[in-house]
Amino acid sequence: MARVALAGVRKVYDNGFVAVENATFDIHDGELMVLVGPSGCGKSTLLRMIAGLETVTSGTITIGDRVVNDVPPKQRDVAMVFQRSDHTPHNPIHVPPKQRDIAMVFQNYALYPHMSVYDNMAFGLKLRHLSKEEIDQRVRRSASMLGLETVLARKPRQLSGGQRQRVALGRALVREPAAFLLDEPLSNLDAKLRLQTRAEIARLHQRLTATMIYVTHDQIEAMTLGQRIVVLDAGRIQQIDTPLNLYRHPANRFVAGFIGSPPMNFIEGRVDDGRFVANDGSIALPVRQIAKRGPVVLGIRPEHIMIGRNGTSATFTLDLIEPVGNEVFVYATAGGNQIVARVPPQDMPQIGRPIDLTFDAKSLHFFEPESGTRMA
Ligand SMILES: Nc1ncnc2c1ncn2[C@@H]1O[C@H](COP(=O)(O)OP(=O)(O)OP(=O)(O)O)[C@@H](O)[C@H]1O
Ligand SMILES: [Mg+2]
Repeated sequence: MARVALAGVRKVYDNGFVAVENATFDIHDGELMVLVGPSGCGKSTLLRMIAGLETVTSGTITIGDRVVNDVPPKQRDVAMVFQRSDHTPHNPIHVPPKQRDIAMVFQNYALYPHMSVYDNMAFGLKLRHLSKEEIDQRVRRSASMLGLETVLARKPRQLSGGQRQRVALGRALVREPAAFLLDEPLSNLDAKLRLQTRAEIARLHQRLTATMIYVTHDQIEAMTLGQRIVVLDAGRIQQIDTPLNLYRHPANRFVAGFIGSPPMNFIEGRVDDGRFVANDGSIALPVRQIAKRGPVVLGIRPEHIMIGRNGTSATFTLDLIEPVGNEVFVYATAGGNQIVARVPPQDMPQIGRPIDLTFDAKSLHFFEPESGTRMA
């Protein structure tokens, strides 16, 4: 296993589009790092640059002790599980065909349909001329880790989607690479299998203590899997931190709104003399932790809003109640401000009636209206 380091990495595609700007971060030896961000933010581009399937416009990528910018993918000692859409005929990836072949030998979700599970897993090792015994050992070890021992003789079409996904993972595993690169490996699984396979990947990581870079657009997947998370937006890194720190201390409004479900509520307004007043005057709250005066965006997470009245409350109109079992999502408006609260099940006013909501004074966030940067 090895550390992976990026320093000032930039990617400009041939058409002039800047897909990644100044990416600098380290993935420690044995760490599971998650890259998360909305579609098109540059996650796959970053991963493919690490794999060597895209050129780096500027900056350096280091795997182990070696700068790999000019090292061909085959010699980088990484195994990649691709985002499935990258291999559909409609979306021939942005990788020259010759390299793509190499990538196929690497790992990808599209298993060879005519080969057994065993042969699918062994294939890459045969190409690398490992001994029969070594191959057998590695395939059986990976199969047992992934619970595939009983299906080794089957063809991919005789497997469930989840099993196929595990075979794809197994093909990466048998290579015993310096790092695993996983691009949305669960995106084609149904909700239940996603959860199962996600847990499997987490367990696998614990057992292997492998260096893994895991790409997803799903913030819940990121939060549950990542030891640390890189949040990307529009090709730029927004924040790198542990899941809890991202949640508690988002560096800007983008991260605050991206991490958490339902998302953080934002209310635009101003602070004067220790009071926050929404721009349309509909909400006014005493606020302590911000000394600065002037325009701000107040942020509060749904679980930090309670029903009832005290010092930091305001009156809203109840719009909608969504019971989800152990808790209730309460949607309410005041003037032009819509918010959602997450509360225990309890008696509630009727829809369309006023509802008093209290904001936990210790859990308010403040962001600059223009830049979105965190103020307090
Ligand atoms: N070969 C290319 N030429 C020009 N632009 C490209 C090329 N490949 C990707 N892009 C653009 O670069 C941006 C980043 O693409 P990338 O595939 O890295 O996004 P992503 O974060 O993986 O998105 P998704 O979650 O949808 O997979 C997108 O706006 C995409 O349209
Ligand atoms: Mg992608």
